[in-house]
Amino acid sequence: MSIPVLTAVAWPYANGPRHIGHVSGFGVPSDVFSRYQRMVGNRVLMVSGTDEHGTPIQVQADAEGTTPRELVDRYSRVIQDDLVGLGLSYDLFTRTSTDNHHRVTQDLFTALWTNGYVRTEKTLGAISPSTGRTLPDRYIEGTCPICGYPSARGDQCDNCGNQLDPADLINPRSRINGETPQFVETEHLLFDLPAFSKSLASWLDTRTHWRPNVLNFSRRLADDLKPRAISRDLDWGVRIPLDGWHDAPMKRFYVWFDAVIGYLSASVEWAQRTGQPDAWKQWWCDPDAQAYYFMGKDNITFHSVMWPAILLGHNGEGDRGGEVGSFGHLNLPTEVVSSEFLTMSGSKFSTSRGTVIYVGDFLREFGPDALRYFISVAGPENQDTDFTWDEFVRRTNFELANEWGNLVNRSVSMAAKNVGAVPEPTSPDPADEALLAQSRATFETVGGHLARSRFKQAITEAMRIVGEANAYLSHQEPWKRKDDPARRDTILHTALQVVQDANTLLTPFLPHAAQKVHEALGGTGVWAEQPHREDAGTSGELGTSHSVLTGDYAHEQARWESTPIPVGRPLSRPTPLFAKLDPSLGETGPSWAPIQTGE
Ligand code: MF3
Ligand code: ZN
Repeated sequence: MSIPVLTAVAWPYANGPRHIGHVSGFGVPSDVFSRYQRMVGNRVLMVSGTDEHGTPIQVQADAEGTTPRELVDRYSRVIQDDLVGLGLSYDLFTRTSTDNHHRVTQDLFTALWTNGYVRTEKTLGAISPSTGRTLPDRYIEGTCPICGYPSARGDQCDNCGNQLDPADLINPRSRINGETPQFVETEHLLFDLPAFSKSLASWLDTRTHWRPNVLNFSRRLADDLKPRAISRDLDWGVRIPLDGWHDAPMKRFYVWFDAVIGYLSASVEWAQRTGQPDAWKQWWCDPDAQAYYFMGKDNITFHSVMWPAILLGHNGEGDRGGEVGSFGHLNLPTEVVSSEFLTMSGSKFSTSRGTVIYVGDFLREFGPDALRYFISVAGPENQDTDFTWDEFVRRTNFELANEWGNLVNRSVSMAAKNVGAVPEPTSPDPADEALLAQSRATFETVGGHLARSRFKQAITEAMRIVGEANAYLSHQEPWKRKDDPARRDTILHTALQVVQDANTLLTPFLPHAAQKVHEALGGTGVWAEQPHREDAGTSGELGTSHSVLTGDYAHEQARWESTPIPVGRPLSRPTPLFAKLDPSLGETGPSWAPIQTGE
């Protein structure tokens, strides 16, 4: 049975290039998951885009002496290049600055407003005394009134995870210039989160399969909900569709309110682009559809509380009841899949502190699959994890090159040299049968892990069969069987079949290498498809042109099963799959991100 599976991937801010910490959270895990789901025959819709509104953009534009519009146009392109380079198979990667996104955000808001889940209120807002402009919550720092953490942000405390109001911070100061903000009265929209406590708690009670740290954290958040402002005094963002608000120069939606709605708006845009404008409903309104959301842990509260509350409010399913809004009854997340942080020498990757490895630099030097492998096998799936060049070199050289690359290379080379084609098996013995049976059985084990986003266990099991095949070859020594070609051919056939199986098992993780192995095994056509950029024409408030990432994944050959390798298919000597890295890289790092020694 083919299930509609929505892969909802966190939207990177278009305020700079991405670093490898970012893509370890939202990027690689979501792509591995989507590729696996397509291979088992499910109907995947993988959507995301650049997050282009709000204070993170405004602040960076100020820092670069440019406008938000110029900034997001420039960085959305850079980010698209990073994500295409990594081979992330989005069905649609768009932008929040499109007309479509603005409209969908406004329609969803209208449903919440109509159902009584949003009210207006006069509150205290912070301004910068030196510029007179609104000082965004995130850029106010102070002591957390709940736990006493000294560098809590105005919107959220990273120590206790609570959402905060900047006016409650003890000893508040601007992170931009250190001055003490002034609090002035301003009118805001308040989203009535407490009206969803009961519905959220009973929904979370059914989410027993989530990663325990994500579920426990979400439960604690849902336990203590306060009304939350969803408007800001800003001139960059989605306009608020209410009389007196729509044309106000300094009133826009809070960036997180519009960003999470991007999952829905991107699905709608995707459907429009395919010429079937209602096609998005398969993933959003069909009760059998599943929806998986991928992100780093600093995004959990927005995906396990705020976004579900918006959906419930639109559906009329909070304490105030209400009508189902204009999109029809919308599905809540099946799972919020969150990673921990990738750190470097113990500290969170951060552009400001200088510990940063950009995806673009990384791809230019090492290619996508080495990074995809590292993140899958050694990434921060369940705990914060340190990236070291030393471990990267070790994993690439000893696991990718020596284990996997070498298995492919020696199996195909020997068959090419001795037979020139996939040899015929004539005399299978128990060792051959045992290896083949183990290889076939691995599909279920690895598939079970992938379906539950247990990427480390999945890739470890897939690599186990690679290790078994190498041990088999060393033990069977086909290179010493000159006087028994029938036995030699049986051994080589067995090895090639396991290469074919292992390549299938590794395809979600290493799609670029998988295409090459497919060709080394004499296969033709597209085994694993890659995304590309497409011009989507003009959109957005200012009418600038808009390009998206998309791909035609339907014609991929890769299926999640053991497919027999055809006897007699011509083979030639393969080129090496993975280049080995110079071990000194582990001590120095590359020139563009040298390892910092001393203090
Ligand atoms: N831009 C946010 C970040 O980089 C993530 C937004 S996810 C979305 O942390 F769902 F809200 F879009
Ligand atoms: Zn705190």
